[in-house]
Amino acid sequence: MTEQTVNRSTGTHADPRRGHDALAREILVLKKQLNAVILAHNYQVPEIQDVADFVGDSLGLSQQAASTQADVIVFCGVHFMAETAKILSPDKIVVLPDKGAGCSLEESCPADKLRELQQTNPNFLTVTYINCSAEVKALSDIICTSGNAVKIVNACPPDRDILFVPDENLGAWVMEQTGRPMTLWRGNCYAHVEFRRESLLKVKRQFPEAKVVIHPESLREVRDLADEVCSTEKMITYCRSNPARQFIVVTESGIIHRMQKECPGKEFICAPSVDAMRAPTDPCHCSECKFMKMNTLEKVRDCMKNLAPRIELSPAILQRARLPIERMLEISARPG
Ligand code: 13P
Ligand code: SF4
Repeated sequence: MTEQTVNRSTGTHADPRRGHDALAREILVLKKQLNAVILAHNYQVPEIQDVADFVGDSLGLSQQAASTQADVIVFCGVHFMAETAKILSPDKIVVLPDKGAGCSLEESCPADKLRELQQTNPNFLTVTYINCSAEVKALSDIICTSGNAVKIVNACPPDRDILFVPDENLGAWVMEQTGRPMTLWRGNCYAHVEFRRESLLKVKRQFPEAKVVIHPESLREVRDLADEVCSTEKMITYCRSNPARQFIVVTESGIIHRMQKECPGKEFICAPSVDAMRAPTDPCHCSECKFMKMNTLEKVRDCMKNLAPRIELSPAILQRARLPIERMLEISARPG
């Protein structure tokens, strides 16, 4: 993709970087005035990543939200991530640029349906992927992210029946890694299930020397072709430390920005998603999460100016959802 965009009404070329620079300056002034910290997920657009104090995966962002000294957390990611920040820092103001930035995994698991399933087995221990609502977190025994799911499941008492929600693909991968049987909720990430074996094999044939890094929200037929399956943060670490020069990246394309910045001289190839290939006019077939891409630099500035949209949760949910997240952070910090 190019930094130059064509203005469709006039046919002239505009450089978006100029607008970005002015907005970035405004954002930095607001950040000082508010004593704010800007946290951004690895899938955010480059110009948002570039103004952030911290860019990372769900685990890293939770750790940052739990430890920040700022008064305001500007969360550039999706709604469940900003909610997690609020649960961990309930006295702080948490804003996100676009309140409509949801997640298909969160949508797949309404709290009342989860409660119904939990009631079918009193021995269930509910291990919940962080991609869910605060209400679902409040019903959970322990939270996990893609970065620590294997460690969390390995730490679960062996006499309990694990109910893993809401991502069936991450759950299936964790079962393969741990050998622990689990009951899986039937949810998935709409963006990651669009990667297919056939199109990935085609790219592998084009770049035979490339290592393949895959997010565990992907289907098994795709995961089976991986050199490494891991969270977005671990993907970046893998590409940095692996001597290979080319990497095929099977996740949302926003991550390429950090990979290029942190691994100069290496080449990153976005795996095509079936969905992106359906758009015949778009020459770039890399995968984008429509929710992550709802945030723009302008919306970041506006949410700081207005201190809205703001995350508000009831005291009961804040209290009940905190414990399973704290359990996760504690187990995650254990050595090994
Ligand atoms: P990570 O925690 O690996 O960044 O994943 C978050 C996510 O939403 C992946 O789709
Ligand atoms: Fe949710 Fe998938 Fe978007 Fe991640 S990429 S936020 S799992 S919809």
